[in-house]
Amino acid sequence: MTLATADAHGRVSARIVLLKSVDVDGFRFFTNYESDKAAQIAEHPQVALCFHWKLLREGVQVRVEGDIVKVSAAESDAYFASRPRGSQIGAWASPQSQPLPDRGAFEARIAEFERRFDGGPVPRPPHWGGYLVRPDRIEFWYGARFRLHERVRYEKTDGVWMRGMLYP
Ligand SMILES: Cc1cc2nc3c(=O)[nH]c(=O)nc-3n(C[C@H](O)[C@H](O)[C@H](O)COP(=O)(O)O)c2cc1C
Repeated sequence: MTLATADAHGRVSARIVLLKSVDVDGFRFFTNYESDKAAQIAEHPQVALCFHWKLLREGVQVRVEGDIVKVSAAESDAYFASRPRGSQIGAWASPQSQPLPDRGAFEARIAEFERRFDGGPVPRPPHWGGYLVRPDRIEFWYGARFRLHERVRYEKTDGVWMRGMLYP
């Protein structure tokens, strides 16, 4: 999914992240808590998500907006423990979003953490974990011929979801 964040000055940034789970509480993804996106989230804890399925029906888009909080440490631990060892080492070795002088520097860090955790389990780095996007607006966009698309928007006000339609 596309995750859009903004900093305190209104500068907007978007990137793809893996939607790890979705339930009644919202949408979860995992990342580095010291990355650029995490810095923006800390400054401005309101985000947007966007999904696109080109081949579903005549095309489907889902747009989500809401606030964002960190998931519990226990939840991050559980997901981290389920990841392949290479990804676990990568989470330690990559100070995400920081300048990298050359690829060799990254490889050296990977080798360093492989040595450090040699043979043993890899604990979750404190700077890695999940976020939960708690939606207050979700729009389903269904493509239709002649651009007569359908847009259905659900909006949560005072804890109550309302459904409405929008001109395409
Ligand atoms: C298909 C795909 C999936 C990705 N999934 C994740 C993810 O789940 N978590 C993550 O931190 N970065 C993920 N990335 C990398 C991000 O797009 C991005 O490069 C990275 O998180 C750094 O973003 P930032 O500097 O804005 O914080 C993914 C990239 C692609 C193309």
